[in-house]
Amino acid sequence: MPLDQQSAARADRDSLFHPFTSVADHLRDGPTVMAEGRGVRLKDLEGREYLNGMAGLWCVNLGYGRREITEAIAGQSAKLSFFHAFNSMSSEVVIRCAQELLARAPVPMARVFFGASGSDANETQLKLIWYYNNLLGRPKKKKIISRWNAYHGSGVMTASLTGLPGMHTLFDLPMGPVLHVTCPHHYRKSPAGMSEREFSRHLARELQELIEREGPDTIAAFFAEPVMGAGGLIPPPEGYFEAIVPILRKYDVLLVVDEVISGFGRLGTYWGSQRFKIEPDLLTSAKGVTSGYFPMSACFVAPKIWQVIAAESNRAGLFGHGYTYSAHPVGAAAALATLKIIDEESVVANVAKLGPVLQQEMRSAVADHPWVGEVRGAGFMLGIELVQDKVSGAPFPKEQLVGDGCCASSSTGVSSRERSAIRWCLRHPWCSSARSLMRS
Ligand SMILES: Cc1ncc(COP(=O)(O)O)c(C=O)c1O
Repeated sequence: MPLDQQSAARADRDSLFHPFTSVADHLRDGPTVMAEGRGVRLKDLEGREYLNGMAGLWCVNLGYGRREITEAIAGQSAKLSFFHAFNSMSSEVVIRCAQELLARAPVPMARVFFGASGSDANETQLKLIWYYNNLLGRPKKKKIISRWNAYHGSGVMTASLTGLPGMHTLFDLPMGPVLHVTCPHHYRKSPAGMSEREFSRHLARELQELIEREGPDTIAAFFAEPVMGAGGLIPPPEGYFEAIVPILRKYDVLLVVDEVISGFGRLGTYWGSQRFKIEPDLLTSAKGVTSGYFPMSACFVAPKIWQVIAAESNRAGLFGHGYTYSAHPVGAAAALATLKIIDEESVVANVAKLGPVLQQEMRSAVADHPWVGEVRGAGFMLGIELVQDKVSGAPFPKEQLVGDGCCASSSTGVSSRERSAIRWCLRHPWCSSARSLMRS
């Protein structure tokens, strides 16, 4: 028998340990229990409707109820519901998926390594970087640079790379050879009076000084999201990657572009790397690869790294890394159906067209509000910085939970998310038409 709201809430409180949730708040307030989704709309158990302002968790990019994807999943489950890829095992659907992904890479890539989540994919990237430098006989070149406010996942090493203190405190993190540099948020972090371009050069100098201080022979890689997501929806300041990348190249530091949320069109280009004209050595994707219908991630590996791994393989022996669900055939079927829809429905062009409309409309609607310090974003990523004082930019005290008030609630009817009670983030599913965009 289906549960009603009350018994579902009670059973949830008594049984579920929720990720990224305050246990105290949850025990007091209970869950919002979602019941169904269709397109960009969600309905909870009590029949209340929401606009899915978060595209699930940055993943249901094509909206709910896409029969092409659910049928591909059902068909593959019936035909070959699982096989692994260890010890040279493979399946046709997985091979086709790898080919289709490589064909869409922003720069020529040599291989795709599959996993089940953004976190496991970034853990794979980290291990690949260390493996590569060991094969090259550079045992000291292991340190990884990340940015404050970055989000790269919740594994031990990926949470260490993540620059959010809430994910470090009480978990004994960060761990390992991780260094954090300043978050590239012009509004909050720039010294007074600097233009965005000057701020970018300032951050490039900081990076260069760090590499020289630590020793270039110890620095292996730099991780970056094209637009920072979970850490506050922060597009790079003007000229940022232009200033940063030559320094990485100069010191032979690999660039890992984390496209877990920006891949597959969110920024109006197939990849964020294309929007910001960056050439990743390693690219991480997940979420949108199956539009959230099946857990799957894909790491792209550039030829220069693959060639070393292939050339040294006899000496190195077995590549001792992988997951049971690396190369899951059902995930591959879901991904193939997703990629087909993205192509056939010109989804990326749609975001390129509607993204500026979303940004402009939101600016006109809220920028003058006394609580709004900054409206920022790119494509279908949009963030509003809530401030107590518009002139000084002073944030609200965390305890006031102002951001919470703007989040998933029956009063706004918009499912969204705040960070640190000061930001309100929207990442629209991009199946939207101009009409549904305006209504929202
Ligand atoms: C940029 C980025 N990288 C990695 C991850 C981790 O992905 P997952 O939650 O699938 O492990 C996320 C999740 O939101 C993300 O936004």
